[in-house]
Amino acid sequence: MEFYEVIKTRRSVRAYTDRAIPEGALERIGESVRLAPSACNIQPWSFRIVLNAELRQKIASCYSRDWLKQAPAIVLALGNSEECWKRLDGKPIIDMDIGIVMEHLVLAAAAEGLGTCWVCAYDVERMNKVMNIVSPWSILAISPLGYPAETPAPIKRKEISALFQVLP
Ligand SMILES: Cc1cc2nc3c(=O)[nH]c(=O)nc-3n(C[C@H](O)[C@H](O)[C@H](O)COP(=O)(O)O)c2cc1C
Repeated sequence: MEFYEVIKTRRSVRAYTDRAIPEGALERIGESVRLAPSACNIQPWSFRIVLNAELRQKIASCYSRDWLKQAPAIVLALGNSEECWKRLDGKPIIDMDIGIVMEHLVLAAAAEGLGTCWVCAYDVERMNKVMNIVSPWSILAISPLGYPAETPAPIKRKEISALFQVLP
């Protein structure tokens, strides 16, 4: 799909078919993740793609909404808050790094015709426990991955004039 078409058509998908994800699509998504920028190019991240049904149920149990349970795959984005670059006031930049790399994954998936949905409203402590992830690593975002079984209804975005101030 052409880049701007991907941007225009990507939506959060919360219903999935059980069609398997082709190996080639996973490889291209992986390469898109690999090429994401990060502060000082530290790449303080790691990913898990969970296909195993039992583990997916455990992951879904850390999130309050039922729809995640039927996704055929769940991607977990792990960030390292010690390894990452720190701002001048000492604050770790990890959330920003993970945001960028995760959106690379989301857009690459959309280009492959695959659905995703950012999910952050889960019990982080429990999720880390389920996946045996220990500090300074933490699971900072997750997303289902699979072929959409729904077409999300149109939603509103702010007008471009409300977003930008041009300062000549
Ligand atoms: C950082 C972040 C966290 C999100 N967390 C959740 C979540 O926990 N559960 C959920 O259903 N959607 C979540 N979303 C999806 C947003 O609700 C969705 O992107 C927004 O409503 C715009 O819809 P669209 O993605 O279809 O364009 C999250 C999105 C972002 C960017």
